[in-house]
Amino acid sequence: MTTLAVKVLGIDFENPFILSSAPPTAKIESLDKAFTLGWGGAVLKTITPDNYEMIEASQRYASWKCNGRVCGFENIEMLSHLTIQQWLDGIKYLKQKHPTKVQIASIMAPVIKEEWQNLVKVLNDSGIDAFELNFSCPNGIPERGGGMAIGTSAEASAMITEWVMEVAKKPVFVKLSPNVTSIADITKAVEKAGASGISAINTVQSLMGIDLDTFEPIPNVNGKSTFGGYSGISIKPIGLRCVAQVRQNSNLPILGIGGVSNWRDAAEYMCVGADVVQVCTEVMVNGYGIIGAMKKGLSDYLESKGFSSPADLKNKAIANLSTHEKLNKQKQVYPHVDDALCVKCGKCVMLCNESEHSALSLIDGHIVVNYDACVGCSLCSHICPKSAIKMK
Ligand SMILES: Cc1cc2nc3c(=O)[nH]c(=O)nc-3n(C[C@H](O)[C@H](O)[C@H](O)COP(=O)(O)O)c2cc1C
Repeated sequence: MTTLAVKVLGIDFENPFILSSAPPTAKIESLDKAFTLGWGGAVLKTITPDNYEMIEASQRYASWKCNGRVCGFENIEMLSHLTIQQWLDGIKYLKQKHPTKVQIASIMAPVIKEEWQNLVKVLNDSGIDAFELNFSCPNGIPERGGGMAIGTSAEASAMITEWVMEVAKKPVFVKLSPNVTSIADITKAVEKAGASGISAINTVQSLMGIDLDTFEPIPNVNGKSTFGGYSGISIKPIGLRCVAQVRQNSNLPILGIGGVSNWRDAAEYMCVGADVVQVCTEVMVNGYGIIGAMKKGLSDYLESKGFSSPADLKNKAIANLSTHEKLNKQKQVYPHVDDALCVKCGKCVMLCNESEHSALSLIDGHIVVNYDACVGCSLCSHICPKSAIKMK
């Protein structure tokens, strides 16, 4: 029997799909709906002390589309605008109504021990299952020493983790930033400081674009802009890399985040070490309803592979990640062109020629490979407009 249930640090997740801290987890009514629709849990939009002033910009989102689909999303948004009391009431209400759903409190405070510890103490017995420390928000908050300003310093990350661990009665996940030189160093520092687990990643610092008529950056806030946080399907390769590097350096449980839009992405995150995945942008652009296909897809896949639960997938690909030096470079692959699909446009010939190798020619209506010149780089297979080229 295949189950989607997973247990992480004693917390039972009925399935490994949870919402990440963001607008879809900012309102109690919405969380109620998400849980009803089948999400296994949610990381609540980052909670701060009530006097932590935040004024939002308008507009605060921008997107990059490919074929009409939002592939990349940028935000310059800050944190939750609910008061602590509103959260306490909401968490209690949701726990009573949805006792099997996991609620993780994402928190952030000024870099003052009492402020962090007070926030933890007030939430400890609220009904939450765990904490997530937001050391990674790249928008606005780092300007005042918080968010990514903490997560880019191993010392600051360790110091605040220690403060939190002194008083936390629930497991504590530290949410890491991808905007660092070495995510391994930050992982090791917070693990040493006592963190129970890692959440990775938060958004990738970005600048979405420039309006070439007005020279105003995007998103345009009364003619000006600032660097934002990039998310959505285009950051999945960065998230996967970060999660794999966390796993290569630590055995802590991992909540994998970044560009998860379907069950396959989730499975890939598990293969590099994630116990559970979090989803944000895909829900913002397509709604909570995507959970049905995610659960069914993962369940069918696990069954087809003979796995009994998502835990069987954990770390499956880690041993296959090596250094460049250790890759077996003796064997080479070559392009094979499917004549039935090829439209003889010659794009592969031109681009192979312009990008170093000149290994392809169009002769008598066929793409011909010069095996002496071909290095098996695979460029032709990626640029073929008809997907007629496979590397074998
Ligand atoms: C509009 C928006 C607001 C966000 N707010 C928060 C936040 O308050 N706290 C936090 O830890 N992460 C926040 N995030 C980051 C997400 O939780 C997540 O780490 C990131 O978007 C990558 O996941 P995705 O590619 O599935 O969106 C926010 C993301 C977006 C797009």
